[in-house]
Amino acid sequence: MAYIFEEPSRTFNAYLLVPGYSSSENRPENVSLKTPLVKFKKGEEPAISLNIPMVSAIMQAVSDDGMSVALATEGGMSFIYGSQTIEDEAAMVARVKDYKAGFVTSDSNLSPDMTLADVVALKEQTGHSTMPVTSDGTGHGKLLGVVTERDYRLSRMSMDEIVRDFMTPREKLIVAPADTTLKKANDIIWDNKLNSLPIVDENDNLVYMVFRKDYDSHKSNPNEMLDAHKRYMVGAGINTRDYAERVPALVEAGVDCLCIDSSEGFSEWQALTLKWIRDHYGDSVKVGAGNVVDRDGFRFLAEAGADFIKIGIGGGSICITREQKGIGRGQATATIEVAKARDEYFEETGIYIPICSDGGIVYDTHITLALAMGADFVMLGRYFARFDEAPNNRVMVNGSYMKEYWGEGSARARNWQRYDLGGQKKGMTFEEGVDSYVPYAGSLKDNVNVTLSKVKSTMCNCGALTIPEFQDKAKLTVVSATSIVEGGAHDVLQKDKNPYVTNVG
Ligand code: IMP
Repeated sequence: MAYIFEEPSRTFNAYLLVPGYSSSENRPENVSLKTPLVKFKKGEEPAISLNIPMVSAIMQAVSDDGMSVALATEGGMSFIYGSQTIEDEAAMVARVKDYKAGFVTSDSNLSPDMTLADVVALKEQTGHSTMPVTSDGTGHGKLLGVVTERDYRLSRMSMDEIVRDFMTPREKLIVAPADTTLKKANDIIWDNKLNSLPIVDENDNLVYMVFRKDYDSHKSNPNEMLDAHKRYMVGAGINTRDYAERVPALVEAGVDCLCIDSSEGFSEWQALTLKWIRDHYGDSVKVGAGNVVDRDGFRFLAEAGADFIKIGIGGGSICITREQKGIGRGQATATIEVAKARDEYFEETGIYIPICSDGGIVYDTHITLALAMGADFVMLGRYFARFDEAPNNRVMVNGSYMKEYWGEGSARARNWQRYDLGGQKKGMTFEEGVDSYVPYAGSLKDNVNVTLSKVKSTMCNCGALTIPEFQDKAKLTVVSATSIVEGGAHDVLQKDKNPYVTNVG
């Protein structure tokens, strides 16, 4: 007879955290969100830890090289989508590894015939006081000079003065060639007491600016995910079919961590993929596996050698797997059970295998809940798809800005490799994902900062300063249907939802 789970299949919305005692030390600025990415032995440090518990989903609409750089800057990691040719995926990885942190494309650019009024307005708009002057005013043309606050005095000068007349001209500037390393650029900045260093190509066109304040960009982005060579760290998705060609190409490109991208991970195909990687690379190549939703699935992938294990079937915002195939499990219930299995495995073997809750995170609170339930980090698709850095189009829908977001199992992605059918495309004639829009939300940095400040604040309410402490101390309660109504604004007419008001005195 079929096995019936006693617990209902619950989602994050079915839970709330109950606060615990918080001391005066429990302040958000004291919270560390560092969390292991890959397995480690008791008493040892993991080979890779994330500085924030967020990774971006292995999806065409989410994770390319641009997203990878933006997220690594904030302390997380992207897994570049595998539903593309091996060459294209490896090229994206290589671009992240080659990315020159600290070399910025100026967003405050002047042409020589602009005025002091333009300079003041631009400074107001961007907040930046160093502005390169180029022939075309775009920041890419021939470098003609630089304007900084030392070049003008507002109290003594007319707003009509022309940039050409008060800028520091090209002949007085120290510049460096395009092949300059960041270290060399920093040395030039320090040796010459500069605030900025323009980097020019062989035709004296401006390519980048390096700023003194960014000389150690680690100072302005303290959470950056950097490898031993100070390059951004990046992950990449693989499948259970072409790994013998794809994995070497990604490793050659410098990938830091792989992840088998599959809708269903409790399969021999995953074990064979993991074995191939171990046979060829030992433990030097890190690889996550999944997705699973119960103890058995976790044990299987743990014993097959996964470095981390991903949880979640059918919970993704664009996912219709549950409707199409009738498989899956509520993301909260799955996370809680797999977390227990991870702890049990750790007790037994002394090996801690991090788990990732993947899919179904809608509100920031869901991230906090997933961590409280035992997840070491979360994978997000919809969340990141809303930002400038995602590789999807921004469009206007019914008067609002939206970003396109489509599932890897949608016809649009044509990613049949993520379905572990052992190389058989035949029969895969139905879709498991939809093509959709999500509201555009601006920059990754701003949004991640707000999200994480909420996570930290709740951790403090529960008396925790680290994720392991939070997992240990968290108290969760199942909510009733009526208490969900109580949890939102209720029995009031919200002003932002009712904008048409007549003042009647
Ligand atoms: P989201 O954060 O709720 O949008 O979920 C993202 C996750 O959904 C991904 O990390 C995948 O695990 C999963 N996913 C991506 N594409 C599909 C699909 O087409 N069908 C089902 N699940 C998908």
